[in-house]
Amino acid sequence: MAKLPLVALISGRGSNLKAIIDAADPLIEIRAVISNRPQAPGLLYAQQAGIATQIIDHKTFKSRLEFDTALQTAIDHYQPKLVILAGFMRILSPDFIKHYRGCLLNIHPSLLPAFKGLHTHQRVLQSNMKEHGTSVHFVTEELDSGPVIIQARVPVLPDDDEDSLAARVLQEEHRIYPQAIHWFAQGRLKT
Ligand code: GAR
Repeated sequence: MAKLPLVALISGRGSNLKAIIDAADPLIEIRAVISNRPQAPGLLYAQQAGIATQIIDHKTFKSRLEFDTALQTAIDHYQPKLVILAGFMRILSPDFIKHYRGCLLNIHPSLLPAFKGLHTHQRVLQSNMKEHGTSVHFVTEELDSGPVIIQARVPVLPDDDEDSLAARVLQEEHRIYPQAIHWFAQGRLKT
């Protein structure tokens, strides 16, 4: 069976990317990892695994639209059937998102629809929540609002700080993102 060609977009650490590489799913082929930050540590995981890497530095573009167009051209060069955002910290324009509708996934560190946006761990602690978690979802034009595919819940413990809570959530992210990608590759996800 042909493997599902995939392109991953990252901005930083890349631990989710590493989890996906380490899962070694026989149904997928990671064709490229593209980062908008030249120094993203996650690029190393891709290089170590022999995966093509590319940098499209958003700072070198005059506008969001020009950046998104360059990003789209770079992605489409690899002809992916799935594009995943793995800690990709840029807001994407509606046209970009439309172009990949139904084949663009994101992982977000909260139990969506709660805590969209940034600094989720900090906001969860400030709100005295007893529970937190993470969600993999299809990307739609509205930020962090597309259909949720899988979530994982974790408890918020009394002595948690941002780091301890983030680490507990991250461990779950590393489990659910490869799972969601596997389901997509099996053709079990549609939006
Ligand atoms: C992850 O926790 C991911 O959920 C979050 O960034 C982290 C990236 O970690 N993504 C977002 O906040 C998207 N809005 P990683 O680079 O180690 O995979």
